[in-house]
Parts: sequence; C-alpha cells; structure tokens
Amino acid sequence: MAGHQDASPWVPPSRDLADLETAAHECRGCELWEPATQVVFSSGARSASVMLVGEQPGDQEDRQGEPFIGPAGRVLDDALSAAAIDRGAVYLTNAVKHFRFEQRGKRRIHQKPELRHVNACHPWFDAELEAVQPRVVVALGATAARAVFGRTMKIGESRGRLLDLTQERSAIITSHPSAVLRLRGRGGYDEAFGELVNDLRLAAPYA
Ligand code: URA
Ligand code: SF4
Repeated sequence: MAGHQDASPWVPPSRDLADLETAAHECRGCELWEPATQVVFSSGARSASVMLVGEQPGDQEDRQGEPFIGPAGRVLDDALSAAAIDRGAVYLTNAVKHFRFEQRGKRRIHQKPELRHVNACHPWFDAELEAVQPRVVVALGATAARAVFGRTMKIGESRGRLLDLTQERSAIITSHPSAVLRLRGRGGYDEAFGELVNDLRLAAPYA
C-alpha cells in the first residue's frame, strides 16, 4: 500500500505562530522542501480577524522567506489599498508553503502545486486556523479555495459574496493576484482588478 505522507509528523502541538514557523522549517511532508530555498510560512499576527490564503510562494518569496512580496504581492497590495484594508492588519499565508518550480537554465519557472501537495501541506493550514481563528478567510484563487473548502470550488460561481465556512467563520473566494497580473497591458486588466477589489471589500469590515 502506498504510504500516506503529509506534514502532520512535523506539526507541533503548540498553536503559537512562532513555534509553528520554526517547526515548518524542518518539514519533509512532501518533496517540495528539497529544491526550495526555505519554507515561506506566513506573515501577520494571530490577532488578525482576516486571513488571506494564496497558492504557494513564488520566486521572490522563496528567496526572501516572506509571502506576497514579489510581483503578485504588489498587485495584492494595490488591491488591498483600494479595498481600504491595511496589509498589516491581516494574516497572510499560502496553501502550500514551499515554492514549486521547474529549473530552466538560470530561470526558475513557477509550477502549479498538485492536489497532493495541497493535501500534504494542509496540517499547517489547520494549525494556522486554530492559532489565528479568523472571522473571515479569503481564498485567493482555485488552489487556495481547494485548501479552504476541501473541495473544488468554481471561482466565477462563488465570488462576490460571503460564504459560510462554520457558524463563526465566513469565507470569500476571489481570483489570484497572479491571474490579474497576467492581464496587465491587455484588455480585461481593469475589470479583473476591480473584481478582486470588490471581493476584498467584503472582508474590509472585519479587518
Ligand atoms: N503567489 C502566492 O500565491 N503566494 C505568494 O506568497 C506569492 C505569490
Ligand atoms: Fe512540508 Fe508543505 Fe513544504 Fe511539503 S510544501 S515540505 S508539506 S511545508
């Protein structure tokens, strides 16, 4: 029988974010740790009421160890400002905590994580939910939505409203800032950016 591998052997019982992040540096829950520079755990405080969830760290995030600091992060920053949300007031994390890429010469090309990576990394996400206990969880894109809901969600059908996650917790599904970024300089950018901002505005009262 194939072994079921995930992050749980590395997740400590503590729900202190610093303890979790320290332990995550040792995680071998899937193979993604090996070619990556480091784990990119999260940013923000456990007191945050809004948790934003991305897909996985990108090239810059992998190098610097912080989520959403590269080009997609700048789109997210602009969208948060437009939605009147202070980035410092939210908790930012990713469904998968190591950068998945393909090396082509000197370039590292982003590769979408597979479902098994999302599942392998999920024990970290569960621990973060327990640590932060956010009122609202914002899933940025399909991979994040998969991690948040545990099943495939259609963004187009789910966005634009608060969804119930539990009795005390709502969720919002919106597009990933990278998907918006890809439209820059083409038709559709303004509309896609506007939709992202509108979805984020739903979280503003809680931030
Ligand atoms: N894209 C993500 O989903 N997360 C990051 O941290 C950076 C880019
Ligand atoms: Fe562990 Fe997640 Fe990194 Fe895989 S991607 S090694 S499960 S932290």
